[in-house]
Amino acid sequence: MQKDYILSLEADRWLFHADILVDKAHVVMLKDRGILKKKESAAILNCLVNIEGRGGDFIEHELPLHEDVHTAIESVVIQEIGEEIGGKMHTGRSRNDEVATCIRIALRNELFELMSEVNGLRSVLLEKAAAHVDTIMPGYTHLQHAQATTFAHHILAYADAFARDSLRLINAYECTNVSPLGAAAFASTGFPIDRERTAKLLGFDSVLEHSMDAVSTRDFVIETISCFSNLMTNLSRLAEELILWSTSEFDFIRIPAEYATGSSIMPQKRNPDYAELVRARAGSVHGGLMSVLLICKALPSAYNRDLQEVTPHLVKATRTTTASVAAMKGMVEGLELKKEEMVKKASAGFTAATELADTIVRETGISFRTAHKIVASLAAGLADEPLESLKEQESGKAFVSEVLQRIDDIALGITEKKLSELGLTEKKVKEALDIGSNIQKRNVRGGPAKREVQRMIERRKMELERDEKSRQEKEERVKKSLEELEREVKKKKRIIKVIKKPDANLLNALKK
Ligand code: ARG
Repeated sequence: MQKDYILSLEADRWLFHADILVDKAHVVMLKDRGILKKKESAAILNCLVNIEGRGGDFIEHELPLHEDVHTAIESVVIQEIGEEIGGKMHTGRSRNDEVATCIRIALRNELFELMSEVNGLRSVLLEKAAAHVDTIMPGYTHLQHAQATTFAHHILAYADAFARDSLRLINAYECTNVSPLGAAAFASTGFPIDRERTAKLLGFDSVLEHSMDAVSTRDFVIETISCFSNLMTNLSRLAEELILWSTSEFDFIRIPAEYATGSSIMPQKRNPDYAELVRARAGSVHGGLMSVLLICKALPSAYNRDLQEVTPHLVKATRTTTASVAAMKGMVEGLELKKEEMVKKASAGFTAATELADTIVRETGISFRTAHKIVASLAAGLADEPLESLKEQESGKAFVSEVLQRIDDIALGITEKKLSELGLTEKKVKEALDIGSNIQKRNVRGGPAKREVQRMIERRKMELERDEKSRQEKEERVKKSLEELEREVKKKKRIIKVIKKPDANLLNALKK
C-alpha cells in the first residue's frame, strides 16, 4: 500500500495552528448550544491546548503518523482522553468544512503579512521617487530612447501598480475571510449548531452561507493566487529593469551588494541574482495559478480529494510572493543611482524630438502631423550627418541656429514657408532641445514635471497610509476575535484546571 501517496504533509503543517483554532471554536460553540456537556468540552479543550503547546514537536513527530492534520489532532485527542469524550469533538462537522475553514484562516494570516510587505515596498518606492524628482534619465518605448523623464516619474509608475496590487489583495482577503464551518460534508447538520458564533470566534467577517457551495469552492484560492500572479508580473517587470539598468550598457544603477553575487571564476562580477530570481519566480507563481485552475476545473460538487492538491500550490505561491516582495523592497531601498550617466544618456537618440515638434505647433500654428514630418526629416538628417556640437552641448548656440536652419530648409519643401518666418525663434528651439526644460513642460496630470511628480508623491503617501491603516484594522479585528476565543477556551476548560496535562484516568474519574 502506498499510504504516502495521499498525504500532503507540508500543507498540513501550514494548517496546524488554524486547525487547533477551528477545533477550539467548534467545541466552544458545541458547549454553548448544549451539544457537549461542561465536563466534555473542558476535557477536549484542555487536550487541544496541550497539543497546541506541543506545537513543533507535534508537527514533526505525531502529525506524519496520520492521514492528515485534522485526523491527527482528533486521533490524538481520542487517544489522550478516550473516545467517549474525545470522539464527540467532531460532532456536527466534517473534514470538508474543517479543511476549507483552516485554509481560509492560514491564508488570511499570509495575506496580512504580504499586504504589509507590499505597503513597505510602496513606501520605499515613494521615498526613492521623492529623492529623485530632479534625476533625469532617458525614457524608453520599444526599449529605444523615446523622451527624457525623471527617475522619480519612472519608478512612481511601479508604486502605482503596487497600489493596485494592494487593492486586489484586499479584495482577495474579503473573499477569503468568510466561514464555511458548519456546512459539514455539504448538507449541513441536524445538530443545532451556531455558524455565526464559530465565524465570529474565528475572526471571520461573515458566514459562507450555502452549505454545498461552502465546501465545494476554492475560488478564493484562485482569486488570491491570481492577485499574486498580477503582483509577481509587476515585480518581474521592475526586476527586469533593475537587471538592464545595472549592465555596462545602461550603467544607471548599482544594485546593493547584499543583493548581488560574485562569480566563481570572474572576480569582477556582481550578478543581479535576486532580481533574476524575482523575475523567474513570477513564472513559478503563474504555474501555481494554472495548476489550481486546472485541478478545480470540472470537479463535481462538494468535496473531492482533488481539492487537497490545491493547497500546496497556495502555500508555495504565498511564500514565494511574500519573499519576492521583501527582496524587491531591499533592492530598491539600497539602490545607488549613477545620475551623471543617466542624464548624459537622456538626450541621446534625439529624445527632444517630440518637444521640438510640439514647439513648432505652438509657435507657428501648423498641424502636429506636419510638424512631425519636418522633425522626422530633421532626425533622419541628423542621423546621416550629425552636427559636431551635438556631442558637446545640444542646446549650444551654433547647434541651435544650425537646427533652425535645417528645419527651415526642410519646411520649405513641405509647407513652402520657412518656419522662422512663421514665428519659430532660436530661443524656442533652444528651449525645446533642452531636456530639463522639456520635462518641466510636461506638467499635465500624471506627467514628469517636478511639481506634478511631487504632487503625485504626496497624494500616494496619503493613500498608502490609508491602505496600511485599513490593513492594521483588519488584523486587529481578527486578533480581538481570537482573543475572545481564547477567553472562552480558558473559561470552559477551567473546570479541570488543576490538571496540567490531561490524564486519561483522572478524566475518566471526572466523568463518573
Ligand atoms: N486533507 C484533506 C484536504 O486537504 C482534508 C479533507 C479530507 N476530507 C475527506 N472527505 N477526505 O483536503
